[in-house]
Amino acid sequence: MLSKDRANFGSKIGIILASAGSAVGLGNIWRFPCEVGSNGGAAFILIYLLCITFLGIPVMVSEFLIGRHSRANTASAYQILAPGTHWKWLGLMGVVAAFLILSYYAVVAGWTLEYTFASAADRFSGEKDFTGFFNNFVSNPWKPAACMALFLLLTHIVIVRGVKEGIEKFSKIMMPMLLLIICMLVICSFSMPGSIEGLTFLLKPDFSKVTTKVVLSAMGQAFFSLSLGMGCLCTYASYFSDEANLMKTAASVASIDTLVAIMAGFIIFPAVYSVQGLSPDAGPGLVFVTLPNVFRIAFGNVPWLGYIFSLMFYVLLVLAALTSTISLHEVSTAYIHESYGISRKQAARIVTGICIFLGIFCSLSFGILSDTTWMGMTVFDLFDFVTAKLIMPLGGMLICIFTGWYLDRRLVQAEVTNRGRLRLPFFGIYIFILRYVAPLAIGIIFVNELLK
Ligand code: TRP
Repeated sequence: MLSKDRANFGSKIGIILASAGSAVGLGNIWRFPCEVGSNGGAAFILIYLLCITFLGIPVMVSEFLIGRHSRANTASAYQILAPGTHWKWLGLMGVVAAFLILSYYAVVAGWTLEYTFASAADRFSGEKDFTGFFNNFVSNPWKPAACMALFLLLTHIVIVRGVKEGIEKFSKIMMPMLLLIICMLVICSFSMPGSIEGLTFLLKPDFSKVTTKVVLSAMGQAFFSLSLGMGCLCTYASYFSDEANLMKTAASVASIDTLVAIMAGFIIFPAVYSVQGLSPDAGPGLVFVTLPNVFRIAFGNVPWLGYIFSLMFYVLLVLAALTSTISLHEVSTAYIHESYGISRKQAARIVTGICIFLGIFCSLSFGILSDTTWMGMTVFDLFDFVTAKLIMPLGGMLICIFTGWYLDRRLVQAEVTNRGRLRLPFFGIYIFILRYVAPLAIGIIFVNELLK
């Protein structure tokens, strides 16, 4: 029913770039360096790499096969593969998560817009107090909310153009731009005096820093960064061609995502270490407070270089965030469009409207709503907690159980091998991970996080 006249991505490279666009985002450039900084550097990165390889890629392949086999949005996918069962709630949970993540993610994405405007207008050059600048901005009742709404409108414009003309076309333009900017920034950062110390922090593991908390954070970060656990990549996979090699695509997406995260580390830490008195564990303020300081101090003598460096960096953040908000938007738009028979345009309007509404509360939680809390969490923190700590791990675990135990093994094998046309040496290992390793590992981490 859905599959006949459904849109598809047009090319292999389009498939990889769109999925990598979803994965590469603020999670790589904002959250990853901040997690590395506060979890001790190289040892964290090693554990992160293990999580990506042994948990991330298998879960991603599962999302891909569920999406491509059913050729439907994530909520309908489970109804098609497991009609009349409770598995439909797993899909619906993903749609709810998409609304929540998009609402708070767009707030931080909005900040990146403001920082791009501020860089372009050279407003940073006379500034000394970046903590003040940041706090003033995020606690303002209007400005950050307006930036958030603007960001969602940009996302909306791409979404209404459709899968091929919107998502694929924009990913094909934005991802190469993003990779180019990131390479240029790595070179700039390496050429700063004192950058070696930052590299040592990133490359020399100190295993005495590894605690369960570090392992938990690494796995949470891996899921967030690869956009897993709530049907985002499942929705994209419903637009994949029958020829797409799911395992290879998952491996490429995970590699691009990891590469970008590590390059972001290569940009940020050498720069931070090259300026005396700045600390690498500045937390979420790292890219909004520490970096503008780096730009100011390191390029004190050559202000135009500082200008270019800072503008490129924030444009990079905007591009990365935009390809991710597009993928989150698509989850809900595809669901409303297909399940309620509403036009795609109208469905997109509903999603944008709801997210702007919810986003306003997330935005205000840094200002006038900062005292409105549940269990010590503001609206922003609550959305983050419910999605990143509850829905995503739970979703990831259930996706493994669904593909590993519920689905017919022949169906899984047929889908992953493109009906026997591909040879897959790892298939046995893949199923073993899905059945035993991943659900157990995620389950332990999930319970541990909850009890914290
Ligand atoms: N992966 C993106 C990032 O690294 C964010 C993102 C997009 C996401 N879609 C998602 C996170 C779905 C979790 C689930 O910034």
